[in-house]
Amino acid sequence: MLYDNPGLKFKDKNCSGEIVWQSPSNIALVKYWGKKGFQIPSNPSISFSLNKSNSETRLKFNPAKGNDFTVNFTFDGTPQPDFEKKIITYFKSLNKIFPFIEQLDFEIESKNTFPHSAGIASSASGMSALALTLCDIERYCFNKLTRLEDFFQKASFIARLGSGSAARSLYGGWVVWGAIEGMEGTSDLYGIPIKNYIHSDFLNYQDTILLVETGTKKVSSRVGHDLMNSNLFAKDRFAQARQNAKRMVEVLKTGDIDEFIRITESEALTLHAMMMTSEPSFLLIKPETVSIIEEIRAYREKTKTPVCFTLDAGPNVHLLYPKSVKAQVKEFINDTLIQYVSKNGFIDDEIGPGPRKMM
Ligand code: PMV
Repeated sequence: MLYDNPGLKFKDKNCSGEIVWQSPSNIALVKYWGKKGFQIPSNPSISFSLNKSNSETRLKFNPAKGNDFTVNFTFDGTPQPDFEKKIITYFKSLNKIFPFIEQLDFEIESKNTFPHSAGIASSASGMSALALTLCDIERYCFNKLTRLEDFFQKASFIARLGSGSAARSLYGGWVVWGAIEGMEGTSDLYGIPIKNYIHSDFLNYQDTILLVETGTKKVSSRVGHDLMNSNLFAKDRFAQARQNAKRMVEVLKTGDIDEFIRITESEALTLHAMMMTSEPSFLLIKPETVSIIEEIRAYREKTKTPVCFTLDAGPNVHLLYPKSVKAQVKEFINDTLIQYVSKNGFIDDEIGPGPRKMM
């Protein structure tokens, strides 16, 4: 398989060190929902990386004291045995790609720069940050992956194996994950940045996340993806997403904001339609979600302000708009939308520059 490498094993000398990466969450405009084989998406997806919503992961590694590796994991300074088990399973799954893993003991400390209550999925930021630290061991101890492009491509591949959407968090700005017909460089195996093609209106996009409810999600994405295997509408959904991804790449180039809005809102509603039509079905939107959507559409109709919404696998609404209309959108939020959000309010985020090495 791509990236399998028996050579990445310590022979006589060993290696130890400490690596810290910060990596962002991302919001998908064309959604990934449904996969085949092992972490291969059923359709391409397109997202932008956020600026404020990051995970920071510190990984210390030392020669293993026993015959196999160990992992000690804390989140916000507290041991997290459930996560620790997941990381051990994930590390074991990488043994052909990074055979050095079994020769090391790991101490991993992670934290998010967004509050627990934010309702933002942290798997994309968390898994991408962890993938970056692993690729950095390869770079640091084996003097490989010295070209930045190779480094981030491999990190995206590794992140995907942990969480599909994490494959898109390795780059700033707009990112495609999944092969798009006619678009060179796109792959089901890793994300690629598309910054060279982007119209200036889409370079400073804003994402105000309106927090309707911030408890834990009712459907894990693993279960959700699996349910697409038996969803009656799956085939048509994948065909639609493939077409939307292709169109979206064009829209980002031309700056056709009306078409952007049409595709983005259709993708959000289709994601939830798929959840509602799966068996068992999931209804994740709340009355407030619907009210916010109706208010956004009415406001857009009345004022011609180019605001639109997207949704993740939950009830919170991501309000999307170019920076040029930020002042009036702020008024709209404070005058109209605020009545529908929970006590946690909203998070004012925007398109961001991608991961940062902190140490
Ligand atoms: O990365 P996963 O397996 O948690 O899937 C995430 C799927 C959505 O967030 C609902 C959509 C997307 O493309 O990010």
